[in-house]
Amino acid sequence: MSQPEFLPIQWKSTFLSLLDQRALPGKKEFLQIHTVEDTIDAIRDMAVRGAPAIAITGIFGLTLGAKKKSGNIIPEEIDSLINQVFESRPTAVNLSFALQEAKKRVGEETDWESIAKIWESFALEMMVDDLKANQALGQNGAELFPKDQNQIHIITHCNTGALATAGHGTALGVIRSLRDQGKKVVVYADETRPFLQGSRLTAFEMLEEGIECYIITDGMSGWLMNHRKIDAVLVGCDRVAANGDTANKIGTYNLAIVAHEHNVPFYVCATKDSFDLNLKTGDEIPIEMRKESEVTQFDFLKTADGKYLLPEGKTSPIGARALNPSFDITKAKFIKNFITEMGCFVPGEILVRLKSV
Ligand code: MRU
Repeated sequence: MSQPEFLPIQWKSTFLSLLDQRALPGKKEFLQIHTVEDTIDAIRDMAVRGAPAIAITGIFGLTLGAKKKSGNIIPEEIDSLINQVFESRPTAVNLSFALQEAKKRVGEETDWESIAKIWESFALEMMVDDLKANQALGQNGAELFPKDQNQIHIITHCNTGALATAGHGTALGVIRSLRDQGKKVVVYADETRPFLQGSRLTAFEMLEEGIECYIITDGMSGWLMNHRKIDAVLVGCDRVAANGDTANKIGTYNLAIVAHEHNVPFYVCATKDSFDLNLKTGDEIPIEMRKESEVTQFDFLKTADGKYLLPEGKTSPIGARALNPSFDITKAKFIKNFITEMGCFVPGEILVRLKSV
């Protein structure tokens, strides 16, 4: 297994070092996180984001919480710690599954010291497993493209790379795997309003790796599919319901409809931890509503000493209201294949494929 390209989540035994993704691409700054409360803030404020990275960070947060305590546990304290972390971001199911597993692993242990050790090794194990899963997923996705096709043009949305995972990435993992096979990949990265994960983070990862990448605004994909040859749309996901409906970053649904209209295959890249078979359809997936100011101003347009370059960073009139649903649901009918570490399959195969793992 090769090493991850970036190390945005680094465990330092007594604290967690997190690459602050809000400062990217301007600065590579690491936050030193010492408490569960600071971990929750880092997740909620999106210093760390991306479904797998959130889940791993959450379990390190539990570990920090357990390390601050001593003596014997009161079972309610475990629940309260887990619930605090659970509430940080609701849409991605990876965090919720990881917290359920963390609770299961407490088993018969009764002292905080042992529980901190259990959670610490669980989080470290998650990092290894996620990197392995992404590398397998990347290989499986690369096989969907014809062997003799040397140039591949891909549209992607949000950031699904090493910054969002333990390394390699999901949709960006497929792109890395294609590049590793010697193919020339041209990436069109949706800028991904309002948080700009595409233009800030995906473009940053692609530049660092020397993969040709063009940022497009979220409304440009229709033009692009009309005027250039696009081979595929590859996106990640935050939660997949049993029928294949998929929650991912806001704007994914629009992209899927445009791809469908232009007969461009639309692939969702997901590790098994993103499939929530408890939910029948996407209507049951909770959609996070984030603050309006993410839409009405660019918090990124700040100088190093915290001054906004535009008045208060605003790109809209003072008093303008906004809607900011942070995710949307892509109907299963628009998804050609799920690309996973277990192989590629159509939405109708989810139950069979996932029940056997
Ligand atoms: O709000 P974010 O940046 O956490 O949203 C991230 C996404 O929507 C990703 O596509 C998803 O988490 C998959 S990351 C491998």
